[in-house]
Amino acid sequence: MKENIERIRSEIAAGIEAVKGGTRQELFELKMKYLGKTGEISALSKGMRDVPAEERPAMGKLVSEVRAWAEEQFSATEELLKQKELEARYKSERVDVTMPARFAETGTLHPVSIVKKEIIECFAGLGFEIYEGPEIEKDYYNFQALNIPADHPARDMQDTFFITGEYLLRSQTSSGQIRVMENKKPPIKVLSPGRVYRSDSDATHSPMFHQMEGLVVDKGITLCDLKGLLDEFARRMFTSETKTRLRPSYFPFTEPSVEVDLSCHNCGGKGCRICKGTGWIEILGAGVVNRRVLENCGIDPDVYTGFAFGMGLERIAMIKYGVNDMRYLFENDVRLLKQFKD
Ligand code: PHE
Repeated sequence: MKENIERIRSEIAAGIEAVKGGTRQELFELKMKYLGKTGEISALSKGMRDVPAEERPAMGKLVSEVRAWAEEQFSATEELLKQKELEARYKSERVDVTMPARFAETGTLHPVSIVKKEIIECFAGLGFEIYEGPEIEKDYYNFQALNIPADHPARDMQDTFFITGEYLLRSQTSSGQIRVMENKKPPIKVLSPGRVYRSDSDATHSPMFHQMEGLVVDKGITLCDLKGLLDEFARRMFTSETKTRLRPSYFPFTEPSVEVDLSCHNCGGKGCRICKGTGWIEILGAGVVNRRVLENCGIDPDVYTGFAFGMGLERIAMIKYGVNDMRYLFENDVRLLKQFKD
């Protein structure tokens, strides 16, 4: 038995030496081979039964000595391998804090949002309140109350998405005029931004686009007030030299109605590619609020008058930034969007 103990001791010593360059799993397997339940050292303890009684105490001592020694060897080696693993990890996960940092990408506002913000800032500075109406709208607010009855040919001016006979996706923010006037009596000065929908799609039309509606109602409001306001708007939004021009037009909810042009901010009116050689760029529809519309909202047209205007935000953005196809504004290509740092 003595020789056996010596053999085990030198086997363990050699095994441990070898496993020092290996893994903790290999060390564990080696440990089980000797100290496991069916391991060789455990077998020695069991073998004590066959040792003559007088030799038992001395032999027992040897067995417990080798067990204690082996346990000590294994735990020291376990510690060593743990340390080695940690060092390897520190090495591979090392961070060089002196490396230049990676910058976090920050987003930018969409050109339509920038234009919307600028227009709101401009008119808020002139005393306008903001009203946002619903996108799913009643036929009444989008058409009827705006002096466009069910069989009126002016309905064809806007190819509308109907949801039911009564509900539709609003085709113009003019519906906001009615909602405001139903709830508020003059003086009224509101600006109503929002999405509108029409069944239309090409380089200058999108089935969804944004409009900004303006409405002023008070005693003694005339078309001249509209012209003065839009002159101020044009100067603030484009250049201090920008002028406006009114041309006669037709909308059922305004009378008289006008189409408003701006002198071309690019060529100053001489004629260029952007204004197609005319020196002018059409930017919005407007007019004096039709008496019928005021009556529909319970406002006396003999006491109060007003004007309204409506513009497309994509169109303003295209003019302002020289974008020649509206679809670019909806593709959300970051190469385009990145150019609009506010
Ligand atoms: N709602 C009209 C359109 O979408 C624009 C407009 C608004 C015209 C207000 C006159 C007054 O074409």
